[in-house]
Amino acid sequence: MTSLFDPISLRGLTIRNRIFLPPMCMYRVEAKDGVPTDWHLAHYGSRAAGGFGLVVAEATGVSPEGRITPWCCGIWNDEQAGAWERIAALAHQEGAAFAIQLQHAGRKGSFYRDFDVPASGSVPLSDGGWETIGPSPIPFPGIAAPRAASLDDIAKVRADFVAAAKRADAAGVDAVQLHAAHGYLLFEFLSPLSNQRTDQYGGSFEGRTRLLLEVAEDVREVWPDNKPLLVRLSATEWVDGGWTVEESVELARLLKDRGVDMIDVSSGGNVLAPIPKDVDYQIPLAAAVRKAGLPVSAVGRITEARQAQSILDEGLADAVSVGRAALRDPHWPLRTGAELGVPRDNLPYSKSYLRGRF
Ligand SMILES: Cc1cc2nc3c(=O)[nH]c(=O)nc-3n(C[C@H](O)[C@H](O)[C@H](O)COP(=O)(O)O)c2cc1C
Repeated sequence: MTSLFDPISLRGLTIRNRIFLPPMCMYRVEAKDGVPTDWHLAHYGSRAAGGFGLVVAEATGVSPEGRITPWCCGIWNDEQAGAWERIAALAHQEGAAFAIQLQHAGRKGSFYRDFDVPASGSVPLSDGGWETIGPSPIPFPGIAAPRAASLDDIAKVRADFVAAAKRADAAGVDAVQLHAAHGYLLFEFLSPLSNQRTDQYGGSFEGRTRLLLEVAEDVREVWPDNKPLLVRLSATEWVDGGWTVEESVELARLLKDRGVDMIDVSSGGNVLAPIPKDVDYQIPLAAAVRKAGLPVSAVGRITEARQAQSILDEGLADAVSVGRAALRDPHWPLRTGAELGVPRDNLPYSKSYLRGRF
């Protein structure tokens, strides 16, 4: 039986355990220049010291207009890459692998961050916002409509992902995760609800998946052979007429053929739809995508030690991503190991914390 604390190898990368920190935007770049700050160093460093096997840094813009908010991180210039290099080095020092989620926010970009109430919705150009692009000029409810991306825009998006991946590699990042979930640009192209194009990037399954497959191919070409390429996918939109689980499985096969090594299986975010209330709502989606023949991580409402271990025991996923529980407890993996009775010496304590073991 696979333990949460067994390593997992993806290409040349061995990750010390199967507990991953999923990408979570911190919206803490107060200078709005996309450069990760001391906040990010402390935040990701704490989770690395807290025992996570893989730390996936938040949705990070491949271009200024690829960010969700003006306060998001970026990786479109060398200053940003230098800041990521420092964070990756700290994660490595604490024994964790370090990935960055590469993001183009598409029609859901230029947003106010959620904790700046009463400001909400789209940031106007006059307050540092930008014109957004999407597959079609269809707005996400309540925010500004995007411009339909031209073929030149699409070529630029592809080039920006490639340049970002090169910078991430040079910064010592172990893996990049393409953000194809939650209604951001790469997912917007997948969904017939947001993609009503009539050219080669729309229409059929083949048309709607073209951009993501091209980006995966482009990035794989410049991303070193010994480093894994990850994708985060919304496996369903929870609404009739939207992107489906069956399409996700087929897409996962195509991604695998293009050198994608693992998929983190999420859902929703492209349209307003009711999401199931049960704790395990997203786990069957991971199990379904796993049938495509590549490793997957499950995510969503995983908070308890036994719940997480049973996902592996039942063969539903190869790893778990623990998000909000890790915001309130950076040492979630260590606490979980203690609760599962894993011998203390086998748990990934930072050497400076050995005297404080559970
Ligand atoms: C504060 C916050 C920021 C998030 N930012 C991102 C993000 O940058 N990229 C992403 O793919 N998902 C993002 N998510 C979604 C999480 O990665 C995760 O999928 C979600 O919270 C469900 O997992 P959980 O129940 O373990 O928290 C975010 C979630 C939270 C709470």
